[in-house]
Amino acid sequence: MPDTPVTPGLPGGGGDPGGPLWAAASVPVGAAVDPDLLQRDEGYRATLLREFNAVTPENAMKWGPVHPTEHGWNLDPADQLVAFAEGHRMRVHGHTLVWHRQLPRWLDSGMPRHRAARVLATHIETLVGRYRGRLASWDVVNEAIADGGGLRATVFRRTYGDGYVAEAFRLAHAADPGARLYYNDYGAEGAGRKSDAVYALVRQLLDEGVPLHGVGLEMHLRAARPPEPAAIAANVARLLALGLEVRISEMDVRIRTARGGDPLALQRRVYRDAIAACMGMPGFIGVTFWGVSDRHSWIHTRFGEDRPLLFDRDYAPKPAYFGVRDALAAARRPRPV
Ligand code: XIL
Repeated sequence: MPDTPVTPGLPGGGGDPGGPLWAAASVPVGAAVDPDLLQRDEGYRATLLREFNAVTPENAMKWGPVHPTEHGWNLDPADQLVAFAEGHRMRVHGHTLVWHRQLPRWLDSGMPRHRAARVLATHIETLVGRYRGRLASWDVVNEAIADGGGLRATVFRRTYGDGYVAEAFRLAHAADPGARLYYNDYGAEGAGRKSDAVYALVRQLLDEGVPLHGVGLEMHLRAARPPEPAAIAANVARLLALGLEVRISEMDVRIRTARGGDPLALQRRVYRDAIAACMGMPGFIGVTFWGVSDRHSWIHTRFGEDRPLLFDRDYAPKPAYFGVRDALAAARRPRPV
């Protein structure tokens, strides 16, 4: 695909068709959102509303923040975010019901299986049931595959057993039969052991009749070593061939360790090529970025100061923004005859 050259000073360069991301794309375009930032950062709020038409709560629905004690729930931030999205006709992707991180202390790895089953059921029924009919989709199980393949050792696996994955999907489906239910993971975008393990897991779940509808590929990428676009396309194609949907669920591209050339131009290419590899495949149904601007990103604390997102710290669009918009728009262009 030709890459529109960027003329400094002119957004997107000479041939820039303009318009926000969501309007360029035939699929929803989302961002991870922190309801607190919506209140205290006007640039954040304005950019989110202008460019995106879908949101994923970055932390507000995770087990630790939302269900900090066994009988105590902190649902205000999640409620606020869902109400905000509804007020602006944005789609909400729930994130996440069962994950090994950001867990509360009261989840005890020594609990007997019957108690683990009850805890899992109460958590999922309460949270999914609360927003029944209002959320488009949920990440039901997050990052359950270990980096070397095979199921990760988690409190859920230890207490409930390997069947916790299937059980979580069954519980979520019963609590909101209309929601699309996802398995979500990182490092499973292109070719490799982890992608193969994710593929094997979801195929097995489908064989068992588990209500699983899609796979989220996180795409926390490093510009220095991105997955091959052809490998991404092949991986997405094999997941789609199982009858699943696929979405890019948490995209950002780190450039701190990129060497040689202009890191922002490289970042633009990595974003564009990864998205272009997926766009247009029937069943590929959306892209969500893990934040809005470089001013607020989890990358800074997790991997060191970086510039991983589409807007800079002052909410100006970066080269990556225009690369993403090109990739999102390309799939809409009629093919030449
Ligand atoms: C991250 C959030 O962005 C941070 O604010 C939080 O401190 C830790 O979690 N994979 C996921 C996301 O599924 O939930 C993580 O989000 C990033 C990695």
